[in-house]
Amino acid sequence: MTMATTPATTVLYCADPLGGRRVDPHFAAEARALRAQGATVALVDHDALLAGDAERAVARVPTAAGGVRYRGWMVPAARYAELDEALRRRGGELGTGPEAYRRAHELPGWYDTFAALTPASVWLPTAPGAIPDRKRLAALAAALPPGAGVVKDYVKSRKHEWHEACHIPDLGDPEALHRVVSRFVELQDEFLTGGVVLRAFEHFVAPEGAATEVRIWWRDGEPRLFTAHPDSPLPEAAEIPARDLEPVRAAVRALDCPFVTTDLALRTDGAWRVVEVGDGQVSDLHREVDPGLLTALLTDDQSTAGS
Ligand SMILES: Nc1ncnc2c1ncn2[C@@H]1O[C@H](COP(=O)(O)OP(=O)(O)OP(=O)(O)O)[C@@H](O)[C@H]1O
Ligand SMILES: [Mg+2]
Repeated sequence: MTMATTPATTVLYCADPLGGRRVDPHFAAEARALRAQGATVALVDHDALLAGDAERAVARVPTAAGGVRYRGWMVPAARYAELDEALRRRGGELGTGPEAYRRAHELPGWYDTFAALTPASVWLPTAPGAIPDRKRLAALAAALPPGAGVVKDYVKSRKHEWHEACHIPDLGDPEALHRVVSRFVELQDEFLTGGVVLRAFEHFVAPEGAATEVRIWWRDGEPRLFTAHPDSPLPEAAEIPARDLEPVRAAVRALDCPFVTTDLALRTDGAWRVVEVGDGQVSDLHREVDPGLLTALLTDDQSTAGS
């Protein structure tokens, strides 16, 4: 199967959980922009996918769709692999394969490739609800430089519960470390993904008049769209100097995933650092960005045709 035989790119959007044939309202404007660019929208049932029923999730995707992309809410890597299998059974194929998705989506997947550009990190596979004991946490933290840290799972933090479940003032204080990590695991509950990640804290500053983090959208190793991080009250994205962008480009190419995002923040010493990497299919877009700029990246399949 080659993408060249497909007349138009098909993008799978999450269906509105409340209304059968509509796109989820969060992605409706994007789906409209995509259609206006001549591409095809198909619907997947995200609830069914997460519940482990991939067959039902893709029941409304046309058969023989060829190369498709997904765009919507985050999907755990194992569920994404099930989505890929279910699509293949009906003649479809995700342009980002399950291994590539996991590499971009989960910190242990991208960390080594970005190690020089991102805060030092260590991790411990953890089942949802399982709180690692003090000793194991202290041993894990001992591999990081001394000082403050943050905790997250392979995909998400509890940054809105910063003091309670995210920031660790001193990685060398086993009691406080255990308290913050425990609270994090508790709050993540069934949504804890992969395990517990500890990261060295780095001081970032907001560039004058712009968002604290710049989200860069990469297609096939090229930086194609620069936006403010979706949570930023300011819509402006600071300009990243070429000397800071080049090593990120090299890392993105080495990661070898078709569509990724990198979130960059300016450290107090003037270096732009990669806070996080993500799969562009599930990265949120700042509400003030024209959705057509994003959908143009989804439909740009020249370089992957036939792959
Ligand atoms: N190592 C670090 N040093 C300093 N601040 C950090 C560090 N890691 C994370 N942060 C802060 O915590 C926030 C959340 O971290 P991160 O982006 O890794 O988690 P997330 O929950 O996946 O966020 P997102 O909403 O971008 O998906 C970052 O935007 C940054 O402000
Ligand atoms: Mg982030």
